[in-house]
Amino acid sequence: MEKALKMPLLLDGKALSESIRGRISEEIEEYTSRGFRPPTLAVVLVGEDPASKVYVGNKKKACQKVGIRSLSYELPYNTTLQELLELIAQLNADEEVDGILVQLPLPPHIPQQEVILAISPKKDVDGFHPENMGRLVARLEDGFIPCTPLGIDILLNHYGVELKGKDVVIVGAGFIVGRPLSLLMLWRDATVSVCHIHTKDISEYTKRADILISATGVPHLIKANMVKEGAVVVDVGISRVGDRIVGDVDFEEVKEKAFAITPVPGGVGPMTVTALLLNTLKAYRRNMGL
Ligand code: GUN
Repeated sequence: MEKALKMPLLLDGKALSESIRGRISEEIEEYTSRGFRPPTLAVVLVGEDPASKVYVGNKKKACQKVGIRSLSYELPYNTTLQELLELIAQLNADEEVDGILVQLPLPPHIPQQEVILAISPKKDVDGFHPENMGRLVARLEDGFIPCTPLGIDILLNHYGVELKGKDVVIVGAGFIVGRPLSLLMLWRDATVSVCHIHTKDISEYTKRADILISATGVPHLIKANMVKEGAVVVDVGISRVGDRIVGDVDFEEVKEKAFAITPVPGGVGPMTVTALLLNTLKAYRRNMGL
């Protein structure tokens, strides 16, 4: 007899994003119909990195669709730190700018931390400023949570994935995803392990995970033999292999074992952009006293 085809629950970030963005759009419409200016996000891109250009393009398009005004600053690769800091100071001082996003990575001659430190924490919709990272450590609701961790949290919560007391294993300890996500999962009372390039045996950890989240950018790193039967698998990776976009997870293998899994594309990616819209709306409400 043929083996029954088992399909896991698909954690559909695209569909959830559409419904959240619909609500964001209605809220903004409400404010503008009362005569308030629209929320405004300044988006800064330095250089010509093709992936960054695509991400920034997606973010600006998403803003436009929900009624957030985006101001675009495209600076040449050879921009100096000083020039970038001057632009940020000008955006910090502009009362009509609610959020500032400087797309990473920056060219290597610009020190990332100095740029992040220069952004007003009140406009730091990426949540990268140490003041906002500190609020995440302290479990303070009034900070900004980095967009990919926030998007994943909203997605898991929407599908009723329990985190309290569960083993969450994060593969990848990067500044943008792994590290802040580990803090957020701790906030949700999960037991968190973070694996990284120096971890002796990653599969020792991944095999124990109730919720496995991979954010490495290594295509198909996570194979079925690294996943526990019935696990929830979240794939943050986006890699181009030939003309295909693939994740960190070998979907075809892992779907046989997972209880639930995010597709790539259409899983975490849209949720990251939705979280940016939510953070921008939060900055706007606060800035306008709404
Ligand atoms: N580069 C990759 N992801 C991100 C992000 O969430 N924010 C910014 N600013 N840059 C990124």
